[in-house]
Amino acid sequence: MTPRLSQPVGAYPRTRLRRNRRTPWLRRMVREHSLSVDDLIWPVFVIEGDNERAPISSMPDVYRLTIDHLVKDVSKAHDLGIPAIALFPYVNPSLKTPEAHEAFNPDNLVCRAIRAVKDKVPDIGIICDVALDPFNSDGHDGIVSDGVILNDQTIDVLCKQAIVQAQAGCDIIAPSDMMDGRVRHIRDALDGDGHQDVAIMSYAAKYASVFYGPFRDAVGSKGALKGDKKTYQMDPANTDEALREVALDIEEGADMVMVKPGLPYLDVVYRVKEAFNMPTFVYHISGEYAMIKAAGQNGWLDYDQAFMEVLLGFKRAGADGIITYTAIEAAERLQKQ
Ligand code: PBG
Repeated sequence: MTPRLSQPVGAYPRTRLRRNRRTPWLRRMVREHSLSVDDLIWPVFVIEGDNERAPISSMPDVYRLTIDHLVKDVSKAHDLGIPAIALFPYVNPSLKTPEAHEAFNPDNLVCRAIRAVKDKVPDIGIICDVALDPFNSDGHDGIVSDGVILNDQTIDVLCKQAIVQAQAGCDIIAPSDMMDGRVRHIRDALDGDGHQDVAIMSYAAKYASVFYGPFRDAVGSKGALKGDKKTYQMDPANTDEALREVALDIEEGADMVMVKPGLPYLDVVYRVKEAFNMPTFVYHISGEYAMIKAAGQNGWLDYDQAFMEVLLGFKRAGADGIITYTAIEAAERLQKQ
């Protein structure tokens, strides 16, 4: 980002900032930031079965899709120009174990979804979460023993999870678990299995946020979750620590970094981009989506304008891309502009 003058030059009445706001063409001419379809990543939920679009009550207009519908919707996303999707599975509760075995089953729902999408829509990027919460009977991102989330034992499982996803055709592995050292080990594991070109987008600064609630409904981990995630996700009060998290992940081999949630953490997005100049992504998460959606449905604000303003806010803060449940709607709006 370019350095800015700390003091405006000139003074009223010769200087009038409203002059540059007078007409739409003028406002377009002096506009500093813009949103494009290239900035959008669409997160999608996948479930077992056929021909089903299962609604999620806390995320109106977002569905869990069976693989046949997933492929159709992803094809639409590709036609709209969206560069990538992020896949999240709703795992059958009977498959959840304390060791999260299903996470590294090469034929699990995520791997089958990756193969189906790659087969029919080969030119869209696929990003996959690496974390154990959808597969773990404790609902935690790591292996739990006596109430403690085990760091190093979890990393072994995350590496196996990353490998089955890469083998299925995943382009970008996105560790969202916040274990220390996982990026380094996942990079080594991927390289060791011949996946040098599979990238890592690390959820580097991920906060212990109440706004994940609707997502946990969507992937069915809410009922399972015992306690909270505060021993591994970050304290919402900290930003210097976010820079240390990002620095470590870059050092360990992350190709891109992410800040999550989005809206309450724009200062973190700004500082991360300023400090590292890395491809920096932000996750406009489920609770942020639900808030705007609910207000829109109640007629309290204009839903379309509200989410477009939020997405632009992420760009202004320095994000290079946004993971957002509004990606399809945003792409459609951008096409009409
Ligand atoms: C799981 C994961 C979460 C989200 C993405 N990956 C939830 C959590 O950490 O509990 C949240 C996404 C959202 O709220 O939209 N590791």
